[in-house]
Amino acid sequence: MTSAPADHNPAESLVLGIETSCDETAAAVVARDVGTGRGRIVSSLVRAQWEAHRAFGGVVPEIAARAHAEFLDLMIADALREAGCTVKDLSAVAATAGPGLIGGLMVGLLMGKGIALSAGKPFIAVNHLEAHALTVGLTDAVRPPYLLLLVSGGHTQTLLVEDVGSYNRIGTTIDDALGEAFDKTAKLLGLPQPGGPAVEKAARRGDPARVPLPRPLKGRTEPHFSFAGLKTAVRRAALSVENLTDQDVADICASFEAAAAECIVDRTFRALSLAREMPSGRRIGHLVVAGGVAANTRLRGELAKLAGAEGLTLLAAPVALCGDNAAMVAWAGAERLARGMIDGLDAPVRPRWPLDPRAAPAIGAGVKA
Ligand code: KG4
Ligand code: ZN
Repeated sequence: MTSAPADHNPAESLVLGIETSCDETAAAVVARDVGTGRGRIVSSLVRAQWEAHRAFGGVVPEIAARAHAEFLDLMIADALREAGCTVKDLSAVAATAGPGLIGGLMVGLLMGKGIALSAGKPFIAVNHLEAHALTVGLTDAVRPPYLLLLVSGGHTQTLLVEDVGSYNRIGTTIDDALGEAFDKTAKLLGLPQPGGPAVEKAARRGDPARVPLPRPLKGRTEPHFSFAGLKTAVRRAALSVENLTDQDVADICASFEAAAAECIVDRTFRALSLAREMPSGRRIGHLVVAGGVAANTRLRGELAKLAGAEGLTLLAAPVALCGDNAAMVAWAGAERLARGMIDGLDAPVRPRWPLDPRAAPAIGAGVKA
């Protein structure tokens, strides 16, 4: 297939984005100025499913897939209506093809392909991690190279973003993702899910020095992350107190957040040193943080200090675009479309899809990508 210009304004490409990789159903329309490459969100809708999964204490893949199937078509119609356009006006359709939960991915991918086929538009199969990685291009018009810290419920990675489609993974978690550690800490302390915002809120009233917790892998030469030991230490600390009071919970949350932020900063600093030794890494001007955990205020503050000390600017997406959304998928699609990177309708669903296929797995079990 070849690219088709937007009918309504040839100076802009207009891309529909679809996101269904985990427990957020999302549809968005994004415009990209063909001349300047600048982007803007025309409409962006996100429907979280936490209520449907609450009783199970975590995301149930089958429930997630059914909810995506139930709401996606209505949300796409609403996103187009809010954008004041129809499928005829689109330049392309982009849908997340992975990584993520296979049932949900299939719902979004098939819907995207169906719309592209019926409207005669190019189709782009988007890597969810690339969508997070490129969000600052949409919000801040920042171009690679930059060092990306991707911290979400499923991933904790540092990547040298060299160009659209070209990523050099530096560090990854050898066990849990940081968002998962936040969620499990919340569950353990009886706080609501998703755990990150609940732990952050409790931590504001807490003493970060009260509970001694480990800083896994801090100071190590390999740039990887580990959070399983921290999670176990949090459990031990919680069990050591009889009848946890609100203040105990707040102190444990603050201590956990402080330990996690210290690990992240140390590991990101190590990744930065390694990235700067790579040919494309010498021109790094920005440290970018993306993914759901990037919404955390303490983490942003500590990373801003690191960036400042290293002569870099810290860029983080606005909180609404840190978590999963379809504007980032549409934007990744628009960037790919501009480079002629279009996929066939036989593009497969890819539950596992590392951004850097050359990256060796980190030592340990449960590495996410
Ligand atoms: O990127 P995202 O929406 O979904 C995935 O692709 O995983 O990230 C969700 C994760 C959850 O683990 C959630 O608890 C965490 O991001 N999160 C936070 C905060 N807001 C969301 N973690 C720490 N502090 C926050 N304010
Ligand atoms: Zn995500």
